[in-house]
Amino acid sequence: MKKVLIDCDPGIDDALALALAAGSADHLDIVGITTVGGNVDLELTTANALALREFLAMGQVPVVPGSAGALLPRTVRAAHVHGTSGLGDVVLPEPQRGVSEGHAVDFIVETLKADPGEITLVAVGPLTNIALAVRREPRIVEWARDLVIMGGSYTRGNHNPAAEFNMLADPEAAAIVFEAGWTVRMLGLDVTLKASVTTAVLDRMRPLGRLSELLVPATQFYGMVTAEGGPAIHDACAVAYVLDPELFTCVPAVVNVETAGQYTRGMTVTDFRVAEQGANALVATSLDVPRFWDLVVGAYEKLAARLG
Ligand code: BDR
Ligand code: CA
Repeated sequence: MKKVLIDCDPGIDDALALALAAGSADHLDIVGITTVGGNVDLELTTANALALREFLAMGQVPVVPGSAGALLPRTVRAAHVHGTSGLGDVVLPEPQRGVSEGHAVDFIVETLKADPGEITLVAVGPLTNIALAVRREPRIVEWARDLVIMGGSYTRGNHNPAAEFNMLADPEAAAIVFEAGWTVRMLGLDVTLKASVTTAVLDRMRPLGRLSELLVPATQFYGMVTAEGGPAIHDACAVAYVLDPELFTCVPAVVNVETAGQYTRGMTVTDFRVAEQGANALVATSLDVPRFWDLVVGAYEKLAARLG
């Protein structure tokens, strides 16, 4: 059993990542969900996390809200991709329970402190909360078992030609996180774009009862699904990595986040010409796509059986 703390900004693919985690209860113990402003504002990412916790039957997992905005007051959102609510046109039942007391940054620090070496941090939104947690308590770098992020790329951006959204949304935070002294497991666009929902994959989600009422319309809102390809469920790659790192090829690299460039702000400048001991990241370079979907759909099937 692996313990994970998931920092997220739901977000359609965040929701699909949470569903993967919820459907992997035999292998994952989710110790908390923290939220950050990202795809949409913090109030909405938190409301979505609360609704998802109940819809996905995640039990008593605490949901703790965190940073509303980036370290510098420059707001980048992706409502044009995820819809104004953050979950496309999916409307989940109103949640019965609210957030846990406190702030995500304190929750991250205290939770890692209480269980050093055991908890993997999975960050699938802008890295604001993680950077502030590092600043508050640099020892979290040693206490975390691993840090796995969906973010960045060494080939291309998506929000613009240079930058991936989570990096561009808070480049200063990302720079702090990459410079903190741990080995960042970076699942960037180079591999997450391969996690693309085709018609064949969507057809495997359709028979999944109540769960399909989230998965299918959310995916279709996220992008056009065709036989050749469709929207990429980026964030699910980070959870899949925790479940089965062998799905990915990962290569040591030095990653520096551009914070100053006029056209390249948020770019993850990745240098593979390093010895392993000099690296600050393990960067994913390939994904076994059929095995990925077997893992994801298998977890969704298990969850669907519980949800009815
Ligand atoms: C990342 O940006 C967000 O829009 C998604 O939720 C994902 O975390 C992909 O670039
Ligand atoms: Ca996200």
